[in-house]
Amino acid sequence: MTAFPQARLRRLRGTPSLRRMVQETRLSPSEFIYPLFITHGHNVRQEIGPLPGCYQISLDRLEREAIEIASLGIPAVLLFGIPEVKDAAGSGAYDDDGIIQQASTLIKKAVPELMVIGDVCLCEYTDHGHCGVVKHETIDNDETLELLSRAAVSQVAAGADAVAPSAMMDGQVGAIRTALDSAGYTETPVIGYSAKYASALYGPFRVAAESAPSFGDRHTYQMDPSNSRMAMREIETDIEEGADVIMVKPALAYLDVIARVRQQYNHPIAAYSVSGEYAMVHAAAQNEWIDGRRVALELLTAIKRAGADMIITYFAKDAARWLAEDRP
Ligand code: PBG
Ligand code: ZN
Repeated sequence: MTAFPQARLRRLRGTPSLRRMVQETRLSPSEFIYPLFITHGHNVRQEIGPLPGCYQISLDRLEREAIEIASLGIPAVLLFGIPEVKDAAGSGAYDDDGIIQQASTLIKKAVPELMVIGDVCLCEYTDHGHCGVVKHETIDNDETLELLSRAAVSQVAAGADAVAPSAMMDGQVGAIRTALDSAGYTETPVIGYSAKYASALYGPFRVAAESAPSFGDRHTYQMDPSNSRMAMREIETDIEEGADVIMVKPALAYLDVIARVRQQYNHPIAAYSVSGEYAMVHAAAQNEWIDGRRVALELLTAIKRAGADMIITYFAKDAARWLAEDRP
């Protein structure tokens, strides 16, 4: 007899202990990556309007932040830089004394066990806000590769443990892998932002990173949200080029893509739960329309259930605290 009334699925939901035993997906801070926005200046800890609880932090306030993150059991941070000056070539991205380079050195000295992942892109460093070199109002793919490679090598030279190219230029993973290898960094992993969509959910990030494009949009390099077969091709090329970890971004609206990638590939998958996802939960919670804590944990669980091995999330610190409190 395997049907009702002999079979009763509610039997396994009767007590908290039993529910815990049959729980299929467990969140842990050890899969969280916390994004950090490092800015120039002194003694800056400026809350980001659309990302409440997240801050632009200057280098002199970074050590305390890194210690706090590590003490919560979060293994890694993803660094974004806001340079003092921006120019057409995004030279702050590959300056050996650039903001991310200095931040990497500082964190590795202060908290060696905290893994530093450098976001490799030009948009925070270019005066036009695009992720690559602009030529005749278009983004020049191959010229950009050279600059991204320099940025990656200089970040790793400064101490970064891994690099994550997010510019969505064709060939970026391969170019960076080759550059790292020839500089002797054969052991440094590349985390490809493989399937990165042209999403409206990046709005709050562009406020945080001061990186909105001054003309046009990113549709010629980021993916069309309508496409999932194209995502598989993006992933395939990143893997061929040597990506150690592949990524789907954003996360929530693309759980189908995460699940599909999980079925087809054996590489570790990172999911980037982007700024808009965080901002929406916060805004609704502030209005007391939802329970922000429960919703955040539910959404993170869903991302993991879909197949992500690691989650880049602005909730990392809060979620780590909540999970520690909830532990039976
Ligand atoms: C830029 C970059 C973006 C994000 C990460 N890297 C935004 C963009 O493409 O404009 C978005 C992250 C977020 O929204 O949290 N290369
Ligand atoms: Zn960019």
